Amino acid sequence: FDEKVLAGKQVLLTAGPTFEPIDAVRGITNISSGKMGYALARACRDAGAEVTLVSGPTALAAPVNVRLLPVQTASEMYQAVLSEVGRSDVFISVAAVADYRVKNRSEHKLKKGDAVPAIELEENPDILATVAGLPAAPFCVGFAAESQNLLDFAEQKRKRKKVPLLVANLAQQAMGADHNEVVLLDDSGQHPLPALPKDEVGRAIVAHLARSLNR
Ligand code: C5P
Repeated sequence: FDEKVLAGKQVLLTAGPTFEPIDAVRGITNISSGKMGYALARACRDAGAEVTLVSGPTALAAPVNVRLLPVQTASEMYQAVLSEVGRSDVFISVAAVADYRVKNRSEHKLKKGDAVPAIELEENPDILATVAGLPAAPFCVGFAAESQNLLDFAEQKRKRKKVPLLVANLAQQAMGADHNEVVLLDDSGQHPLPALPKDEVGRAIVAHLARSLNR
């Protein structure tokens, strides 16, 4: 960035999947790689922000000059975000958070037996909706990965979670990939970006975000 468009801003991000244990060695997760969230964290850092990255399990290197808080479960991610959000100007929710966790998780490794085990699920808190609903909420940026009806579903999500800026992408195209093609949705409408490497998508989102903050 020629200009440090996020100078003096505290940015909190979530990235990666979550891991919801079933027993001591097994769990439920998803195919999020964390690449988009880490790219955005680096873009915010390069734009002059102080960056805290709450990350689920990924195979990625910790970005330099970014405070990294590793977590496993959605509950841990929720706790970490809520303890950090008070000092944040911007919250960017990129993580693919599990909607459900295992209610009857076993401390010990389940043994193969006569009966097929039943996995009971219970709902996880919605981290983004919680943060966006705080009385002193930071500026919130959400993501929507949809596999169909992308822009309709994404705009509904933006309204439901009350986030001013939402990044829509096709799940089957974005998750795990090095490139991404996104559409930014805000009160002024739809802003499509071309297919780009995730680092460049991150920088374009930061440029749009900085303009929104200054409006
Ligand atoms: O509802 P859906 O999961 O598709 O919404 C996606 C957006 O909400 C993403 O920004 C994601 O990080 C966030 N989210 C969250 N907590 C959840 C579920 C989703 O913060 N439990």
